[in-house]
Amino acid sequence: MFLQLGSIPTLVICSADSAKEIFKTHDVVFSGRPVLYAAKKFSYNCASVSFAPYGEYWREIRKIMILELLSAKRVKTFQAVRDEEVAVLLQIVARNSSVNLSELALSFSNNIICRVAFGKKFENGNTRFLEMLHETQGLLGGFCMADFFPWLGWLNKLNGLEMRLEKCFRELDNFYDKVIEEHLDPKRPKAEHEDVVDVLLQVQRDPSQAITINNDQIKGVLTDIFIAGSDTTATALVWIMADLIKNPSVMKRAQEEVREVSKGKGKVLERDLSKLNYLKLVIKEGLRLHPPAPLLVPRETTQSCIIEGCQVPPKTRVFVNAKVIGRDPKYWEDPNEFRPERFLDSSVDFKGQNYFELLPFGAGRRGCPGINFGVVLIELALANLLCRFDWQLPHGVKREDLDMEEAFGLTMHKKIPLCLDATIVDL
Ligand code: HEM
Repeated sequence: MFLQLGSIPTLVICSADSAKEIFKTHDVVFSGRPVLYAAKKFSYNCASVSFAPYGEYWREIRKIMILELLSAKRVKTFQAVRDEEVAVLLQIVARNSSVNLSELALSFSNNIICRVAFGKKFENGNTRFLEMLHETQGLLGGFCMADFFPWLGWLNKLNGLEMRLEKCFRELDNFYDKVIEEHLDPKRPKAEHEDVVDVLLQVQRDPSQAITINNDQIKGVLTDIFIAGSDTTATALVWIMADLIKNPSVMKRAQEEVREVSKGKGKVLERDLSKLNYLKLVIKEGLRLHPPAPLLVPRETTQSCIIEGCQVPPKTRVFVNAKVIGRDPKYWEDPNEFRPERFLDSSVDFKGQNYFELLPFGAGRRGCPGINFGVVLIELALANLLCRFDWQLPHGVKREDLDMEEAFGLTMHKKIPLCLDATIVDL
């Protein structure tokens, strides 16, 4: 679909075939990112991985992120953090038989991201931190006239957007400055594991790196992790639990599997995750129906090219509608049904390299580098929530009445928080 949104030529990709064409045949042309008003500010003038223009800087900073922060080996070093935070999550559920899973999932993933990135979490009444996260996400995902009519940027001064943005950015920036300062303090007690700030400061001092990174670039990467990592993971977890509640036979089968694997231990350990074949299908199916970023992150063409016979000009903004593609009846039988079994004899995966009908993490060279990190969090939390508790809707709410409406934003939340009753199971 080719549209003119304001003064911006816009291409919306709605089929797996077109997605394959842009991500496989023309990946380089489609690897740009548009310079969006709020994203430019929060990414320190496009110094983050997610908003850097396609080119040498992006290649190097992404390489650093993957090798130093998100490789399978590095993700493993954060296992203790995950274990501790899963234990906290289970304790909270056990203490309060009725829980707001939307809130719990967000504080769970946020605590992990903060511990991994900054070396500490911000909880126990530190609501300002969560407010800052919400405000940043709201600004990044909200509507901004200047993104469609660039010459109307001055309107942001009048409608208060610029002031909101500046205030939120200052707060975030001061927070990063403090965290960096603490990490540079020689008296800082030695932590059990290096966090992301430690690693980035080492990279900054390492003369063998292909690029030198300054503090703004470090902060851009921190924003990537802080924004891209926490909300997406929490959103995925909530939708999958909602889908399971709506489909009790799937829930039962998943619970039987996790309880079998956890026998004698009372919980699912990370090393057991590879045995949870059915749970992995459940997660795939949840991400198909509710990709946390349904339009991925916008792309921009770096030069003109021809897609399915149509000339696409340079600097065209590109949205890939992963949600529509994931429900296309051409590829998916009964596409709106939650049926993990559909993946039983299928090799379709969500890595974005060979299959383009399932794109929750995007695809091609700009696809999500945090898959390893995000998936292990979802698997571990979900496996343990299903292992330790039986789940029901609050008294009086029927399964068919469970609201599945989506809220618009950077990530596609469940509009009404998911509130459930949990009963502890004797294992
Ligand atoms: C369930 C969890 C997650 C989902 C569904 C998700 C989804 C996505 C999507 C759709 C994109 C855009 C890809 C494209 O343009 O093709 C993306 C990009 C990105 N994600 Fe994730 N993500 C998740 C977790 C994470 C985590 C945990 C991190 C880091 C800790 C992360 C870091 C990034 C970064 C840095 C980019 C930009 C990549 C680039 O432009 O080169 N994501 N993610």
